[in-house]
Amino acid sequence: MTSVPGLLANHIAARRLISRLLAIGTFAAGMSSTAIGETVVVYGATGNIGAKIVTEALDRGHEVIGVSRDPSRLTVTHPNFTAAQGDVNDLDSMLETIAGTDVVVLSVRGYGPNNLPEETTNNRSSLTFIEAAGRLGEEAPRAIHLGGGSTLNRNGELLLETRSAEEGTQQHGLAWGHWLTLQNYRASENVRWTVITPSGGYIPDGERTGTYRIGGDEVLVNREGRPGRISHLDFAMAVVDEIERGQAVGRRITVGY
Ligand SMILES: NC(=O)c1ccc[n+]([C@@H]2O[C@H](COP(=O)([O-])OP(=O)(O)OC[C@H]3O[C@@H](n4cnc5c(N)ncnc54)[C@H](OP(=O)(O)O)[C@@H]3O)[C@@H](O)[C@H]2O)c1
Repeated sequence: MTSVPGLLANHIAARRLISRLLAIGTFAAGMSSTAIGETVVVYGATGNIGAKIVTEALDRGHEVIGVSRDPSRLTVTHPNFTAAQGDVNDLDSMLETIAGTDVVVLSVRGYGPNNLPEETTNNRSSLTFIEAAGRLGEEAPRAIHLGGGSTLNRNGELLLETRSAEEGTQQHGLAWGHWLTLQNYRASENVRWTVITPSGGYIPDGERTGTYRIGGDEVLVNREGRPGRISHLDFAMAVVDEIERGQAVGRRITVGY
């Protein structure tokens, strides 16, 4: 009997084959071949930002596999969307889900019983992805991992050092968990990764303006000299731009207005 994850893998493989054949057909017909979509796994597809990344990617013609520990919460009905059950901290589950795909977005959040940075879902899932990518070798997809703004520098000084919450609190664990996540990727070898960080947090209900700026490790400040928040929709656009362009592989970028 085929297991549910096995069925998922077969389904994804079939969808990818059709997508490739369509692309070859488009190419043979002399049309632009850039219409081919990527197969994108989104961990955190039920989340505030992950759900918007799912929508943006689908709107732009990509195949999306949205992952949740409880996939009944994934109610997207788009024909290019597949809901999958999975745990971002479980290596076997991740291997099953990401094998044969192009890009994995990790937009996850969670803390452990002691609020330690090591226990956070971001830290643990980055380690799981790095292990999975090592197992998959050259076939491994790229990772785009959402980061935390306080891991940026302001005038060369790490924001976490200057404004970190009290040790032992969830906020402290989550913020330093993002820092560990970044260091995990930086220390990894043969892994194609990007950490993408908002410069000054988010405007959850903000509009999709269609514009943003990209920086590196230094926080982007607005005309008033302050880190400006970015809308979820523009941030999702920046993530999908990076999915398509792959211009920041092996580094962290920040996005702001
Ligand atoms: N200022 C900042 O820099 C800033 C501000 C806000 C957020 N962020 C970061 O942006 C990211 C996304 O934030 P958000 O607000 O969208 O988070 P959210 O709404 O709380 O969603 C968290 C997501 O994580 C998923 N998740 C948690 N544990 C998981 C596991 N073990 N396996 C699979 N999925 C798991 C959940 O999926 P299920 O429950 O469906 O499994 C959920 O979809 C986080 O890393 C957050 O820290 C940064």
